Amino acid sequence: MSELQEKIMSALKTVQDPDLHKDIVSLGFIKNLNIEGGSVKFDVELTTPACPVKEQLRTECETKVKAIDGVEQVDVNMTAVVRSTEHAQPVLPGVKNIVAVASGKGGVGKSTVSTNLAIALSLTGARVGLMDADIYGPSIPQMMGIPISSPKVGSENKFFPHEKHGLKVVSAAFLTKQGQPLMLRGPMLGGIIQQFLQNVEWGELDYLIIDLPPGTGDVQLTLTQKAPLSGAVVVTTPQEVSLIDADKGVKMFQQVKVPLLGIVENMSYFVCDGCDKKHHIFRQGGGKTLAENFKIPLLGEVPIIPAIAEAGDNGIPVVMSDPESPAGKAYKELAGQVAAQLSINQANSGEKVSADFELAWSTEKEAN
Ligand SMILES: Nc1ncnc2c1ncn2[C@@H]1O[C@H](COP(=O)(O)OP(=O)(O)OP(=O)(O)O)[C@@H](O)[C@H]1O
Ligand SMILES: [Mg+2]
Repeated sequence: MSELQEKIMSALKTVQDPDLHKDIVSLGFIKNLNIEGGSVKFDVELTTPACPVKEQLRTECETKVKAIDGVEQVDVNMTAVVRSTEHAQPVLPGVKNIVAVASGKGGVGKSTVSTNLAIALSLTGARVGLMDADIYGPSIPQMMGIPISSPKVGSENKFFPHEKHGLKVVSAAFLTKQGQPLMLRGPMLGGIIQQFLQNVEWGELDYLIIDLPPGTGDVQLTLTQKAPLSGAVVVTTPQEVSLIDADKGVKMFQQVKVPLLGIVENMSYFVCDGCDKKHHIFRQGGGKTLAENFKIPLLGEVPIIPAIAEAGDNGIPVVMSDPESPAGKAYKELAGQVAAQLSINQANSGEKVSADFELAWSTEKEAN
């Protein structure tokens, strides 16, 4: 390793990933370091393209390397390879992370959060699937603007997801005759969930988001038992009654040992036309209190905005139609937090975050 190379790596070793609490050299993020004269190029390979501190890390890398004597130009290329949650038995081998979106109570905005979260993740470049597991009241087809039709069937009776707004989408609604409710109980329920999980050609996905029906009933339990969930997100509204229900939702996942990624407080505040003030029309800070009680993160607060509901009704979720609106930004921030929590959990569960580079580097250093 040349002297300049060593100086660059030392400088980068002072850049910390604030979520993983380690420096980016030890984390194995630095790849393809190339030095030509005073011109330095390297990749920073993150654990998710949705990393909320991506731009902060890029700037810090640039500034620190530029400050080194002999460096004239720095070109930092931010890339990402999403890590998989490790499971003893991979049910869906091509799917790296499965995230359930749940609530204790109906109508709090799970499906709206699921669609916008999935799209926000895919807008960062991740490969994302969306599974509508609300077999009693599937609303994803309408929110995604997908007409209800039978899915294409491939080999071994596996069916293909619909593709829309950059996502692969499967809904219980595609498996029934239009407008007909599904009448399912006990074992049949397990069967349809199994079908959802194993008979769909998902292909390779970084994230599969599952929109659950409300409450803590059979579907939720079956899913938490059959699907290797990487984590769950619990949606609540700020009102007290909704929070009591959310409390039940959180406890259900704790009992079945599914990691809780955190809480989303939906319909948190209202921003009226003509003023930027956040009006907390319901109780304020409920989601935060709930998150603190369970010692889990508050992943995001989504405003109550008519455009969110209109976008859902029109089949183009707001993060797609208006990504820079307050609502669009709230969902993008939420996606960053969800992805970051998955990465943190993986790092904490002893997942090998490739430390090869660090090893190679320290061995070389010792040899010198
Ligand atoms: N932040 C928001 N601002 C305005 N409207 C919203 C917001 N979030 C959700 N809505 C609207 O509230 C209604 C309920 O939302 P949604 O269907 O996502 O809830 P849900 O929890 O999935 O309901 P269910 O329990 O019936 O499945 C929808 O009409 C949706 O468009
Ligand atoms: Mg719903």
